[in-house]
Amino acid sequence: MRHFLDINQTPAADLRAMLDEARRIKTARAGQPRGARDAELALDGHVVALVFEKPSTRTRVSFDVGARQMGAETLVLTGSEMQLGHGESIADTARVLSRFVDLIMIRTFSEATLRELAENASVPVINGLTDRSHPCQIMADIQTFEEHRGPITGKKVVWSGDGNNVCASFIHAAGKLGFDMVFTGPEAFDPDAAFIAEARGHGARVEIERDPIAAVAGADLVVTDTWLSMHDDASAREARHALLAPYQVNEALMQAAGPDALFMHCLPAHRGEEVTDSVMDGPQSVVFDEAENRLHAQKAIMRWCLGR
Ligand code: CP
Ligand code: NVA
Repeated sequence: MRHFLDINQTPAADLRAMLDEARRIKTARAGQPRGARDAELALDGHVVALVFEKPSTRTRVSFDVGARQMGAETLVLTGSEMQLGHGESIADTARVLSRFVDLIMIRTFSEATLRELAENASVPVINGLTDRSHPCQIMADIQTFEEHRGPITGKKVVWSGDGNNVCASFIHAAGKLGFDMVFTGPEAFDPDAAFIAEARGHGARVEIERDPIAAVAGADLVVTDTWLSMHDDASAREARHALLAPYQVNEALMQAAGPDALFMHCLPAHRGEEVTDSVMDGPQSVVFDEAENRLHAQKAIMRWCLGR
């Protein structure tokens, strides 16, 4: 059974094969209407369940459209509207869904929920974001980087702000694909030390630099994300913003990074908070390519899960 739970748990050769496939898939359907079926209907006759316990725009639409373009039927399910939200266990939900569908994508809160679903499902499970990681996003981000700049191996990625779930998957990818990663942000929001140690164990250079201007020197890519994630306590918003404000990605920071650095954000962005309009809409920004590549990267992930 091939679950896609995290980048650090997926063999590097498989990640590379999925990235190459995503590029091929994107090229193959260039210029076609959105509803056109892919030439190779890899998921024909399959049913894909998309379970959401948190809001989503990109993950929901890209998985739904992507699965349909590959010939599958899709079910978009909201946790609160399922018995899952009313006391049924995740293990029993996994056993039941496995009798009806061929693949399950879930966006949930705890890592434990994702694991329990995967352990009890008899079909592949894909992580569509937990409090701890967001692997599908980073597959799309790497696809996007490589489209613009070639192989990411050996490049320097700088994460500015909150060392959150999206940052964690970037660190996982640094270890697997061999690029350097610098985290710049307040100590209170440092990424998980175990993830940093693991990436370093694979030979990646992962550093923490508190000075954002020093951090971005020579960066090939600058990345940020919201200062308040869906799982964060909203009452801490102001305190978090006060600590994170020096790490806003603005024109001064992008200037320090240099003209060749790309800017990425998984979106949704909070313009004027973690990133300014001038950077989001500026020449270094590839945020909407990133959003589009969710579609192509996740097709490769779904195909991999189903052994295609
Ligand atoms: N980037 C991302 O996962 O977006 P959604 O929350 O809209 O799915
Ligand atoms: N870090 C954000 C990512 C949203 C796609 C969150 O978890 O809310």
